[in-house]
Amino acid sequence: MSSSSRHESAHLHVQGQAAYIDDLPLTEGTLHAAPILSSVASGRVLSLDLSAVMSYDGVHRVITAEDILGDKLLATFVHDEPVFASQRVEHIGQVLGLVVADTHIQARAAAQRAVLQAEAEAPLLNAREAQSQNATVLAHVQVQRGDALTAIQNAAHHLQAQLEIGGQEHYYLETQIAYAIPQDNGEWLIHSSTQHPGEVQHWVAHALRLPMHAVRVVCRRMGGGFGGKETQAGQLAVWAALAALKTGKPVKMRLSREDDFLVTGKRHPFSHNFKAGFDDSGLLLGLQSTQWAHCGFSADLSGPVTDRAVFHTDNAYFLSDVNIVSHRSKLNTQSHTAFRGFGGPQGMMLIETVMGNIARHLHIDPLDVRLRNLYGDAPRNTTPYGMTVEDNILPELMTQLANDCRYRRRRADIAQWNASSAVIKKGIALTPVKFGISFTATQFNQAGALVSVFTDGSVRINHGGTEMGQGLHTKVCAIVADVLGVSFEQMRISSSDTDKITNASATAASSGTDLNGRAAERAALQVKQNIADCLAKADGCKAEEVVFKDGFIRTPALQRSFAQVVQFAYSQRVQLWSDGFYATPKIHYDRKTLSHRPFFYFAYGAACSEVAIDTLSGEHKLLRVDILHDVGQSLNQAIDIGQIEGGFVQGLGWLTTEELLWGKDGKLLTRGASTYKIPTAADIPEHFNIKLWHEPNREDTIGGSKAVGEPPSMLAISVYEALRDAVAQTLGRKHAGATEHAGDA
Ligand code: MTE
Ligand code: MOS
Repeated sequence: MSSSSRHESAHLHVQGQAAYIDDLPLTEGTLHAAPILSSVASGRVLSLDLSAVMSYDGVHRVITAEDILGDKLLATFVHDEPVFASQRVEHIGQVLGLVVADTHIQARAAAQRAVLQAEAEAPLLNAREAQSQNATVLAHVQVQRGDALTAIQNAAHHLQAQLEIGGQEHYYLETQIAYAIPQDNGEWLIHSSTQHPGEVQHWVAHALRLPMHAVRVVCRRMGGGFGGKETQAGQLAVWAALAALKTGKPVKMRLSREDDFLVTGKRHPFSHNFKAGFDDSGLLLGLQSTQWAHCGFSADLSGPVTDRAVFHTDNAYFLSDVNIVSHRSKLNTQSHTAFRGFGGPQGMMLIETVMGNIARHLHIDPLDVRLRNLYGDAPRNTTPYGMTVEDNILPELMTQLANDCRYRRRRADIAQWNASSAVIKKGIALTPVKFGISFTATQFNQAGALVSVFTDGSVRINHGGTEMGQGLHTKVCAIVADVLGVSFEQMRISSSDTDKITNASATAASSGTDLNGRAAERAALQVKQNIADCLAKADGCKAEEVVFKDGFIRTPALQRSFAQVVQFAYSQRVQLWSDGFYATPKIHYDRKTLSHRPFFYFAYGAACSEVAIDTLSGEHKLLRVDILHDVGQSLNQAIDIGQIEGGFVQGLGWLTTEELLWGKDGKLLTRGASTYKIPTAADIPEHFNIKLWHEPNREDTIGGSKAVGEPPSMLAISVYEALRDAVAQTLGRKHAGATEHAGDA
């Protein structure tokens, strides 16, 4: 079932006609809220003077923690985050309250006039230091197999180093936004730009002390989420709803870009220590890894994010004797959250750095070190957390990519170039990705859908997933169209809506299509069965003999159009809509020891990047990228390739030009496009060649496909490794022992 239908909203996107929440017509009487932000990173609050705020034009009222009747904490997993800071402030940009005014501009201008007095303390801004002072958001976790330290000691070679990895701002085009509209009978309608409407419903109901059935959350589409709207859309929705509750008016709240930078969390920066022991061939014999995650002031999703970093510290490699310790440090900054890859990239960066270092230490081609260490046959096929790697296609995939892009030949050419070029040096690297697919929070691996066929033969689909540009709705439409044998154009998809699908999971962990696609397929199969049964009875054949194809339904007796049959079935009082439900099989693991099978399957890929650096200015250029990526049987090649391009380029930004900087006082210094450099069209290499691996998923997934949303972002590690390759030419150094810096290069 492979189609390349264009994105279901493509024509609207390009014409500027796709409606986002800020485009919705305002309900009469709507007010606008803006946040009052803490100017102090850490300390006890002495006073908050709001007189100049209240006297500002158009201001209706200010809302602070005192106005909250119920729980003053948000309904987050760890339940450690205040709705509004009150007695203490914990980062610059923490929200102390809201200004509600006639216009968005008035609310923002008035919010600037609040004056905070606090007993400022020195903020904690370093993850290692915080942990040494017992400032953590969650207890540490350790995964261990064999005896890493002895294995390292006994090895012929060892290395140890420190690796610092910077964070990343989501930079979604649409900043966080929510619009809360009171309904009759104490009910609420919340428009939220969220990856998880069900969680927003839960948070709002909790904050307003309402049962969940009184709160309806709707999201047609997001202008990008990238993980940033998995939990943190919830704060906006709660704030808008509290303001609406207090004023009795609808309230819209949208963050300016600068406020979004200051208020919301980002990708977790990581600090790593490692020791590695290996033999003459580069085979890794022991690895000791200590990881400090910079979680910010609250736990948010830091638990599962840092777990995933641990789960991906192996990336594609068998680690026989290994010890991984993961610390979750509490710092006086924004609370870091999900970001494409969800900790996976930070774990993989560690092991890929180790591979690169080993190769330079031994003067071996880094590709050979990587190939040498890949997972293989038993016993070299179990991860440190005890999951068997059943379908390891990487040896073949990496070899194919290396041949296709002539890696060996080009490495020789580059060596020649570097020998004669004093200033411009080139580097090349080919790195793999193995990414586990499933939510590590096992209960999230479920989904529901509704398929409704109307009497004219047109079809409405609804499912629990959300659309953030990734093409989930397009894939689900194609799946249902395929089951019913009608055209893609006959499908329409509804907004994600908590009134339609109950308790839906976040659209995250790349599993949107795996989960919702399967649920929608099941719903469509049920409708199809109902129609087939009805027609079989009428035409005197078996239901299995009824064929749905190309907009027609055929029985041995007759061929009719889909719409004709639907009308007939309706007249026979046949149910023409159905629900569908899916829960991922096979997964189970122990969250305390992080062991067994957290993932249904792995998605694989590899990329080869070639770079040039100017050794005088430090400027670099990405010259060429070749990617071979595994999406199983593609459900939509155009969308899958788009996800691979987008994911790669987003990862490229993280590892090259994007850099978050906090000042000594704890203020985020990089707060907009002028100081924070995301990739643009000019950063995309001229030669950017993407091919899809040819095999379907060996696990039973929708259409034999594999998840594609996150894995390609980690292919950009090839650029980082190519840059290190080029830098090593400059230094001519034998081994890399010193501190490595990534993501803040
Ligand atoms: N693609 C676009 N265009 N916009 C996004 O916000 N988010 C990414 C990825 N691709 C994102 C995207 C992230 S973080 C995830 S987890 C997946 O899409 C979520 O969608 P899926 O599960 O349907 O792939
Ligand atoms: Mo994606 S980080 O799982 O929303």
